[in-house]
Amino acid sequence: MHSSNKILEKVYGAKTDDDRRQAYNEWAQDYDRDVSGFGIQLPYVGASVFARHIELGTMPVLDAACGTGMHTLPLSMMGYSGFHGIDISDGMLTIAKARGCYASLTRMALGKPLDIADDHFAASYCIGALAHGHAPPESLNELIRVTRPGGLIIWSTHAHLNERTQPYQEFRHALTSDRQWIPIFETPPFVSMPDGDSAIQHAVYVYEVCS
Ligand SMILES: C[S@@+](CC[C@H](N)C(=O)[O-])C[C@H]1O[C@@H](n2cnc3c(N)ncnc32)[C@H](O)[C@@H]1O
Repeated sequence: MHSSNKILEKVYGAKTDDDRRQAYNEWAQDYDRDVSGFGIQLPYVGASVFARHIELGTMPVLDAACGTGMHTLPLSMMGYSGFHGIDISDGMLTIAKARGCYASLTRMALGKPLDIADDHFAASYCIGALAHGHAPPESLNELIRVTRPGGLIIWSTHAHLNERTQPYQEFRHALTSDRQWIPIFETPPFVSMPDGDSAIQHAVYVYEVCS
């Protein structure tokens, strides 16, 4: 199944890092307005899961594919800090900077080795980016590498199953079988953009990195 929504199909259909960068650079100015119009649920669910599992004062936190920071602003309001955002799109990073809730913002692509030392982050947060046309399942290896043993990774992927989403589900279970991480919590699948494409479901997961 591909998305019936033209904007979503464009970003899910991106084939190269240049395509993704360009698609999000073009969308950046309108992104918050458009996804709000889609009834986006991910920022609220992601921030709620984060707040339930991550202690105040935990830092530094990697916000991988931070976008405009919609999902991090509520956490910043709650007193969380030390967020370091990375994203492939300068346009999205520019809007995130204006939100004022990041300690640093850097252009970096998931799916490639990250220019970050092993075990650097106390926790990692990656909402809305582990998806076809975005960051590949193998990006999870890098999130595990840069997160300290015992640290939590809070992330989302699609929960409706098709040929585009299945590899992400298979990869997360393989990482568990491999003892790379331990599952701590997952939300039920939910319709993440009811007014954008009601066939798209997401779930948010919490995993603890093994030593
Ligand atoms: C749907 S938005 C989600 C943004 C934000 N995490 C949120 O929840 O509001 C997806 C973001 O992933 C970024 N992105 C897509 N592919 C990427 C990649 N391979 N590496 C880094 N960022 C990527 C896009 O530029 C965009 O900002």
